[in-house]
Amino acid sequence: MRLVAPSILSADFLHLEKDVLMVNRHADLFHLDIMDGTFVPNLSFGFPVVEAIAKKATLPLDVHLMIVHPEKYIERFAKAGANYISFHLEAAQDDGNDPAEILRSIKALGVKAGLAIDPDVPVEELFPYLEKVDFLLIMSVFAGFGGQKFIPETYGRILTLKAEIQRRGLHCPIEVDGGVDPGNADALAQAGAEMFVAGSSVFKAEDPAAAIAAIRGCN
Ligand code: DX5
Ligand code: ZN
Repeated sequence: MRLVAPSILSADFLHLEKDVLMVNRHADLFHLDIMDGTFVPNLSFGFPVVEAIAKKATLPLDVHLMIVHPEKYIERFAKAGANYISFHLEAAQDDGNDPAEILRSIKALGVKAGLAIDPDVPVEELFPYLEKVDFLLIMSVFAGFGGQKFIPETYGRILTLKAEIQRRGLHCPIEVDGGVDPGNADALAQAGAEMFVAGSSVFKAEDPAAAIAAIRGCN
């Protein structure tokens, strides 16, 4: 089954409630991108926006941390309403922190724990954590901005990761994020992706509900 997670980064912030209600009606998760201007060269939004969305959301909140020292903010995002939290392996490594420890603290808060990597990080670097995660986030663009072009090498990366997950008899879904649209969703699903983040292809579409349905496909 495919889960579609519209990325609120591309929503209409002047009419956020309208977009939140649309996502409630048509999608499976809310994807909330948190950027700190340090791990990525962009700033997005923080707790007040997440809390406001949580008040109206009837679907789980999937918080994607693109920040240094993610461990400092996990508890606050959990309190703000996060049901899924992912952080970047690169961020934890640069900070000198043990990713496994951060995964444990996310789970201890009753939140699903995910590990994310940018397109230049070999997927094999995720292998030591496969038993410890609830999901994995494979970036199909470099983290930092919505509206970028999908990187086709992502298919092979997902295939490799999925094969290793299956070889170990595990069941952790792969989330794909960046440049996802109705044109590449089927191939991504065939490669092994189960969670589909989509920003521009949903919110810039003439009919966002139809775009979500097309990304979800019929399986
Ligand atoms: C990029 C973010 C993505 C982004 C996706 O750093 O992690 O979630 O909002 O936007 P699109 O679908 O427009 O590439
Ligand atoms: Zn994201």
